[in-house]
Amino acid sequence: MLCLSALSLSVPKARPLASISPPDLVRLVNEHLTQPLLWLREQVGNLKRGDTLKINPAPPPGRTDLLGSVFHHAHSMMIETLRVELGLQGIAVESSATRTSITVPALGERDPPANVWAGKTVLVTGASSGLGQATAHELAKRGAIVQGVARRPMKSLSFVNGGRFVPLSADVTKYEELLGALGARRFFSIIHSAGTGSIDLIQHANPDNLHRDIDTNVLGTLNVAKLALARLKRNGHLAIVSSGAARVPWVGGVSYVTAKAAQHAIAVQLAHRLRRRNAAVTAVLAGSFNSGAWVGALKNRLLQAVVGASAHALPRPSRVARQVLADVERGAPVSTAGLGGGTAYTFGELMHLASKSVATTLTTLRLGLPIGRLGSLSAAR
Ligand SMILES: NC(=O)c1ccc[n+]([C@@H]2O[C@H](COP(=O)([O-])OP(=O)(O)OC[C@H]3O[C@@H](n4cnc5c(N)ncnc54)[C@H](OP(=O)(O)O)[C@@H]3O)[C@@H](O)[C@H]2O)c1
Repeated sequence: MLCLSALSLSVPKARPLASISPPDLVRLVNEHLTQPLLWLREQVGNLKRGDTLKINPAPPPGRTDLLGSVFHHAHSMMIETLRVELGLQGIAVESSATRTSITVPALGERDPPANVWAGKTVLVTGASSGLGQATAHELAKRGAIVQGVARRPMKSLSFVNGGRFVPLSADVTKYEELLGALGARRFFSIIHSAGTGSIDLIQHANPDNLHRDIDTNVLGTLNVAKLALARLKRNGHLAIVSSGAARVPWVGGVSYVTAKAAQHAIAVQLAHRLRRRNAAVTAVLAGSFNSGAWVGALKNRLLQAVVGASAHALPRPSRVARQVLADVERGAPVSTAGLGGGTAYTFGELMHLASKSVATTLTTLRLGLPIGRLGSLSAAR
């Protein structure tokens, strides 16, 4: 039996998010999330049925340590996902880490006026496609002045009721670029939907996809968090779109679950901080919907054709956007819009326990499913 004990996780020394410079934040996300995932990718490739992978978790951070709490929660979900994914392949994960459970504190339900968005300045990220685009357009139709951020070119839109969609070009992983695009604006609401995702067993993950998923989802969300702390108005709203995957460790999702769990933890931390401003935070633990995320996602052309065709059966982003906005308006701490989002939220614990017990049984019996033979699934993007 081979036992690897080299992975020791850590979190940075506590300090306020606002005091961390953009290059430092890039370095910290890379050091505490991306590098451990890349290390795992290398090492797991050398393991076989009957082997054990040992992971030492970081000591728990203080409750008010934003970055420490985010990394610590992401690590706990990463380890839980590995227990399932490697367990099914007959590889045991030995770790004293326990799955941390987090809850977005509620501010109290709101009863918004009928035209709550009219004339309000709203920032929407990921506005060039999918949920972000649908939400941005819906808000502009309702009279909001929407500042829509994405890297691709977008068209400006104006509506008779005064609503506008103003396209802004910026990469959410680049804080200075984001600030440059936004100028000195303050926001009634921020809907952060920019995100990416890839699916692969950890040993087959494309390193560029790993980097991109952590950078876009975690670094991008930390940048938006900094903005929200500085620029979100009193009585405003912040929505952070993560995924039902933030609560349910699943096979092929180590980097995605880690990234989405981090986003969810950022929402929790911000909800505590923005309380004083009476600003409501909604964590969007989205289920599936039809969007650009499914286009060209898989390497295998046949599988991609099946996924592409099936995506049409999923809810349209416009429908999901309306549900998200309804939840945001009433200040709901969690939105589970999209297919299966509610199921993941309600039965996540049960789904996780079931898959974990199958994985544990297989490793105990020294059996394993040959799922590693599937090779790499996600296309390089
Ligand atoms: N689709 C689903 O079934 C599903 C399910 C659960 C959760 N989600 C989550 O929902 C969110 C929205 O995804 P979607 O499905 O609507 O995907 P999508 O159609 O691919 O849209 C993603 C958006 O994010 C933007 N984006 C990506 N990287 C960026 C960066 N570095 N800087 C600025 N913008 C960036 C893209 O714009 P540019 O490429 O133009 O920059 C695009 O506008 C993501 O967080 C995703 O993980 C999706």
